[in-house]
Formats: sequence, structure tokens, C-alpha cells
Amino acid sequence: MEGGKRAAHAMLFPFPCSGHINPTLKLAELLHSRGVHVTFVNTDHNHQRLRRPRGREGFRFESVPDGLDDADRVAPDRTVRLYLSLRKTCKAPLLDLARRLGKRDGVPPVSCVVISGLVSFALAVADDLRVPSFVLWGTSAVGFVCTLRLRQLRLRGYTPLKDETYLTNGYLDTPIDWIAGMPAVRLGDVSSFVRTLDPTSFALRVEEEEANSCARAQGLILNTFHELEADVLDALGDEFPRVYTIGPLAAAMHRRVDHVASGLSLWEEDAACMAWLDARPDPPGSVLYVSFGSLAVLSPGQLAEFAWGLAASNRPFLWVVRPGLVGGDRGMDALPEDFVEATKGRCFIAEWCAQEQVLRHRAVGGFLTHSGWNSTTESIWAGVPMICAPGFADQYINCRYACGEWGIGLRLDEELRREQVAAHVEELMGGGKKAQEMRRNAAQWKARAEAATEPGGSAYENLDKLVEQLRVEGS
Ligand code: UDX
Repeated sequence: MEGGKRAAHAMLFPFPCSGHINPTLKLAELLHSRGVHVTFVNTDHNHQRLRRPRGREGFRFESVPDGLDDADRVAPDRTVRLYLSLRKTCKAPLLDLARRLGKRDGVPPVSCVVISGLVSFALAVADDLRVPSFVLWGTSAVGFVCTLRLRQLRLRGYTPLKDETYLTNGYLDTPIDWIAGMPAVRLGDVSSFVRTLDPTSFALRVEEEEANSCARAQGLILNTFHELEADVLDALGDEFPRVYTIGPLAAAMHRRVDHVASGLSLWEEDAACMAWLDARPDPPGSVLYVSFGSLAVLSPGQLAEFAWGLAASNRPFLWVVRPGLVGGDRGMDALPEDFVEATKGRCFIAEWCAQEQVLRHRAVGGFLTHSGWNSTTESIWAGVPMICAPGFADQYINCRYACGEWGIGLRLDEELRREQVAAHVEELMGGGKKAQEMRRNAAQWKARAEAATEPGGSAYENLDKLVEQLRVEGS
């Protein structure tokens, strides 16, 4: 009991993929650091796979079945199967777990449920427990608003596209200037999900439904900070009265969690890449870091354009080529022959790395990224400008804002060409006028991100407000 109130106990359940697990885990750590009792629920499959899922006082890991069989796990549409299976099978085990937790000695009853996007079915768990629910939506605020607006885009006939030619005939450049809080943006930048010819598109409907169902929760939590997206956040406030912007989560963690966090990784981090960065002989900021996150799948042709563009740039680079980055479940083995030889002495290829540390390493001065939101916020916090190669979901709008509103990105064309890859790398790493301007902007955003997560800063205060809300609503 604290001040007459029962201790808050948050049960967190992310959609089981890295892009959702990592930010949810950071939120869990932050809540725990503020005295909230935490239960972090993974799927059984990930619980066995994840490294270091060890609990401690007031912070436990639990797991529930995801309902998939071995064939589902390797199927090309495995993420869709996972989504559907979770919806079908997970509510009862989660509810049962929550009820059992409250019967254990020294464990307060679950007083709120916190989920990531794509598992909105779990809002019903909170309803059944009669406790409040919160959604940590893992994109930018603008990414969230764009996902909400997919419904209007569909109803107004912008999507689905009429035929294949609409993908290349300039239609995706149609300006969308009616989304409150946003400047005019290209239709194609609102979301990857508008690029469909299918009126029953599963992805389009799921995204739309999942974003809109956040309105059923008592609060929306975003990994961003107010100063970064003030206009869109102000507009969002009309529809979502309780939005907690508590990011960048990596920065907030750094400031408020005083131990090495219980990092969970589905892949082993390659420590040798840090030693390679330490030993770089070139001036600080000379190395380009290249990574496309945990989900992107490149065609062998796209991989070759990146590879030969990087080779032609003559700049040192550290490239994460994880298993599955290339179609057909391929990874490093798909790199073009002769590429390693051609870049010898200035290239390090890792399967996975400690990305936050890499971005904050003094040797690193640029990031070639797919513009996933976690990567974007980590880059902002590190003050590192980007080359953006978006390909899926919110990545286009993140890229649009990075290159436009924030002035910290250079965009690659959708049709990848090695010449443009090399030219952008040269422009960013070469230190010309444009690069200097981007570095200045990146340094300013880094300072604002630091300020937001310091005591008195917007994100710092919002986390305290969120914790207070959990205590009040859960008591
Ligand atoms: C997904 C979606 O694809 C993305 O559009 C959305 O914005 C978030 O959810 P993902 O593609 O994995 O995410 O990209 P991103 O959001 O950038 O997350 C990748 C995470 O993996 C980052 O936190 C990054 O630090 C981590 N990572 C990546 C590593 O720790 N090591 C690596 O080697 C590469």
C-alpha cells in the first residue's frame, strides 16, 4: 500500500516481434523504476528464444501459448498467422494468468493491462478484469494518425488503387492536405498500406482496426516527445484526450533506469563490431551504420544495389545483415560474390548488434535505415543524420518527416539504384553544405530529446503523470 492506495501492478503484453517487444520492455523498466509492480508476458515460443528473460523483485516474466505449429512458424505469411492465432487463442490464457498472479503471496493484483499495437483483443482482458488498459503504439504520433486515417482514405476512394499502373504513374504523389496537424504529404507517404489493389486487403483493414481500437483504452502511450511532433499531437488531443508522450524511450531509460536493463534480444549481439568501431583509425563520425530493423525483407536485387552502392562510396561502414533479411530466409550468404573482397578493410558485417550503443559510438556519423520508428528515435537521440530507405507501414511517413520537417534525412528513391546509394552516402559522409546542415539539425534534435527526458522535461513529466494515472485508476 502506498499512501492508502494499493501498489499498482501492470501486466504488459506486446505483439511478439522485436519492434514491439523492445519498446514495451523499455516501458516496463521505466514503470518498474517508478515503483510499479510489473509482469511482462511473452509468448512461450519467444520466452524460450529470448536472451536474459530473468525476473527480479517486482519484475517478473511470464508466458502464454501463441497457438502456432512448426509449419506456421516458417510459412511466408507467418506474421498474419501469428496475428490471427493470438486473437483466437490468447485471451483466455492471459486472463487466467492475470487472475493467478493476484493470488500469489507478495504480488498485488493486476491493476492495469498495457499492450502494444496489433494485440487489441487483449483490451477485453482488461475489461473482464475490470481494470484500465493502455496501449503503447510503437510508431511516431504522425504514424499513428496516418494509420487512423486509412479509414478515411478508403472511404474517400484513394485506396485501394484501381490497377497496377497507379503504383508508378505518379498517383502516389497525390497531395493529402486534409489531415489535421499535418502538412500536405504524398498519398504514398501516408502508409505503405495504401499500395493495394485489393478492396478486402487484410493489412489495410487490420491496421485501420487496430489503430482505431486504441480509443477503447484509457490512455495512449507514444515513444516520441512533444517538441518533435507538437502540431500533430495537438490535433490528436481532440480525439485522444489522454496521450502520454514519454520518448525517446532509449533516452528515458538511460536517464531513469540505473542498472543495465534486462535487454531482450531475439538474435545474439555481435560484440566484435564494437571492438571494430573502437579500433577505427579514421576521424570520429566517419563510419556509416547500415541496418534495416527486425522485419524488412529485401529482394536479392535490392541487396545488390545497397551492397554495390556502399562499395562504390569508399566510406567505412558497419552493416547488419540478419538471417532472414533477404527473401527465402537468407542472410549474409546472399551478399554478392566479391563484395566482401571489394570492401575489405572498411566494412564489418554483423548478424545483429547493440544498435543503441553503435549509434552513440563516436566513430559513427551516419545511419542508412529503413526508417522504422525505433531506429529513427534511437538515431535522433544519438544525434546521427540518416539516409532513409522506407519500405513498409509507417516507414514512409517517418522518412517524410526526417527528410522534411526535421531536416535530418536524405531519401532514396523507391526504385533503388546503386549510383544513388553511393551519391547519398557521399553527400552525408562527405561533409558538404547539406551534410553540415543535417548535422546541425541532428545535434539540435538530440539536445531537445535529452531535455525532454530530463527532470522538468515534457517526456519526464508525462511518465510521472502516467504512473500517477496507473496508481489512481488501479486503486
Ligand atoms: C517494426 C516496423 O517494421 C516499423 O515500421 C515500426 O516503426 C516499428 O515496428 P522494425 O522494422 O523492427 O519495427 O524496425 P525498428 O522500429 O527500427 O526496430 C528495430 C529495433 O531493433 C530497434 O530498437 C533497434 O535498436 C533494434 N536492432 C536492430 C538491434 O538492436 N540490433 C540490430 O542489429 C538491429
